[in-house]
Amino acid sequence: MSNEPSILVGVIGGSGLYNLGGLTVLKEVNPETPWGYPSSPITIASLPPGIPIAFLARHGTQHTYSPSSVPARANIAALKSIGVKAILAFSAVGSLREDIKPGDFIIPSQIIDRTKGIRPASFFEGTSVVAHAGFGDPFDVKLTTWLTQGVRKSLKQKNVDLHVDKCVVCMEGPQFSTRAESTMYRQWGGDIINMSVLPEAKLAREAELSYALIATATDYDSWRPNEAAVTAADVVKTLKQNADISRHVAAAVLTDLHAAVAEGGILTDSIGCMRSAIVRPA
Ligand code: ADE
Repeated sequence: MSNEPSILVGVIGGSGLYNLGGLTVLKEVNPETPWGYPSSPITIASLPPGIPIAFLARHGTQHTYSPSSVPARANIAALKSIGVKAILAFSAVGSLREDIKPGDFIIPSQIIDRTKGIRPASFFEGTSVVAHAGFGDPFDVKLTTWLTQGVRKSLKQKNVDLHVDKCVVCMEGPQFSTRAESTMYRQWGGDIINMSVLPEAKLAREAELSYALIATATDYDSWRPNEAAVTAADVVKTLKQNADISRHVAAAVLTDLHAAVAEGGILTDSIGCMRSAIVRPA
């Protein structure tokens, strides 16, 4: 039996975050899954003191996958196939609230799905298995709670604000929202908006992986009266700074996260959910 530590934690990088930087790369793997290859080879890097961590670029290392074309099933299945138990995902988001400023970080607790029926969102589609996974709390509650303190502490060192317990609207794109849509999402209770958290979070739940999102605000979307509506250039402006701070946050929390996952106790809801979700005749 190998004495090498298991790869328990996977990081999915979003727009602007195409590597974790500064870590020793051990190897790259590119597992083929029943849903094809992941959007990038998975980099296995070593965190001090020799902890292996998996990193996958959601849009590809050259940003070749739009949010609508990300092979999310292959991404989640590939991470699961190498032993990952918990996923820390990063994503650029627009802000639907005045107090969430471009440059702020957010750990959301809820999702509103505006991609339903458009993207393949289940591993069971096209199979004879009828399964309904619980998704009332779309992010792993224990994992997000555990993350908050460490992420807040690391952001304080960079003078960046963290918002928790927020609701992310996931829209299809590729066009940004109209002013009317942006205003409606605010009325619905949305706090931030992106194009990427789904179906990723749903698939992680079906795969019985714990999943949490660290969202990084780039813009104020299109709801502010008398202000210009968001453009791609607005988003790109903040991406680099947000990516550098995301690397700082990842470096600050990943070693402890690996240890906490190894010890058990910080992962809640997903594990075991599919056994009770598969519907079969009595
Ligand atoms: N990602 C970053 N900003 C966004 C916005 N305003 N709408 C949707 N996705 C985004």
